[in-house]
Amino acid sequence: MNDLSALPDDFVWGAATAAYQIEGAVDEDGRAPSIWDTFSHTPGKVDNGDTGDVACDHYHRWPEDLGIAGQLGLDAYRFSIAWPRIVPQADGRVNQAGLDFYDRLTDSLLEKGITPFPTLYHWDLPQTQQDRGGWPVRETAERFGEYAEVVAGALGDRITNWATLNEPLCSAWIGHLDGNMAPGLKDLTAAVRASYHLHLGHGLAVQALRAAIPNASIGIVNNLSPVHPATDSEGDRLAAQRGDGHINRWWLDPILGRGYPQDMVELYGVELPVRDGDLELISAPLDWIGLNYYFRQIVTGDTTGPAPHFRQVPGPNVEHTAMDWEVHGPGLEQLLLRLTDDYGVQKIYVTENGSAYQDVVGADGSVHDPERTEYLEQHLAACARAVAKGAPLAGYFAWSLLDNFEWAYGYDKRFGLVHVDYKTQQRTVKTSGRRYAELAAAHRLRG
Ligand code: NOJ
Repeated sequence: MNDLSALPDDFVWGAATAAYQIEGAVDEDGRAPSIWDTFSHTPGKVDNGDTGDVACDHYHRWPEDLGIAGQLGLDAYRFSIAWPRIVPQADGRVNQAGLDFYDRLTDSLLEKGITPFPTLYHWDLPQTQQDRGGWPVRETAERFGEYAEVVAGALGDRITNWATLNEPLCSAWIGHLDGNMAPGLKDLTAAVRASYHLHLGHGLAVQALRAAIPNASIGIVNNLSPVHPATDSEGDRLAAQRGDGHINRWWLDPILGRGYPQDMVELYGVELPVRDGDLELISAPLDWIGLNYYFRQIVTGDTTGPAPHFRQVPGPNVEHTAMDWEVHGPGLEQLLLRLTDDYGVQKIYVTENGSAYQDVVGADGSVHDPERTEYLEQHLAACARAVAKGAPLAGYFAWSLLDNFEWAYGYDKRFGLVHVDYKTQQRTVKTSGRRYAELAAAHRLRG
């Protein structure tokens, strides 16, 4: 049994989802297409040709889903708000029916005593905004700030906890450099500019949220990885420094007031379109930092392609999830301590952590997932160790409440605490979900 006793008494036990991954109903109530509709409908981009058209049909089944969240005893629920439901077109017109959906969701969460933790952007950029240049252009950041103002005005009377962006690294690097996520570009200049405007959009959204919600508690969600050199060679050590810059420092330093890491600015060789006042906006004070942790990276140098000139190599650990991601709980502890000791962060949430495995539905309809349960316990124990060493960790959100559309991997990769049968839309709480509920309940009852 892992020792979780160091977790604070008021530790927040949550679970997370994201709009495009669960909602479906892509053309209902005035929603317009996002870049993920376009990408998933482009042949060859997503395994099996899967799309988010129906997903978990959460747009219609949300009362049942929130009921399950209530049964699990969750303190908090992290979901994302779909920009293309709220401001579907480039003309800036607000779609009230889109706001109404999140209004109902919010009221229902509050009735159940579950604290809402919305994220304003989880990768579903309105396609119209992409058509005007997308994240590589400044206008997108400005439109994002306006959208944030609309949402804050509609829900800010009831919601205090807000995240601006989810994993901007993936939007910029995977969406614009690797090409494996929407909008599917492979262009270093576009990727670096996208990263900059994502940061600027974050800053503008913080400004809008602060203006509308005096007691707001605002954060940003970054996915980080400890980066280790494959060997002690100078080349590998340099690769690890670059890897750390590309994966961690680029995403933390400007937000936390250190500016963009100079070594990376030089390595990318792309001029940042900075205007007066931008860096202050980008580094506006935050109330918390969200950490999404999945794996560490072991890297070696690779100058065959464009910067950042490193690539991941397999680690020594034999344990992997169905995503082929190494299972490594200590990496979570290390990142929490780095945010605490190196960056001086005052409050942290683990906003995502979880694992995909090949779940099997038993003859009796149950889903027994011992590997996911072990993964969950191992990573919660890493959280507790970090807290014992001083990390100001306030809560943990399991990824994910439900099995869902795992982006370019489609529905084959299941991360849920709750199994979804996509043919019948039946939900079944997995063993891991029950275990998570038990741990949360035991923690609340202690002492
Ligand atoms: C992080 C992303 O935020 C989420 O959307 C995704 O499903 C999980 N990682 C698992 O890959």
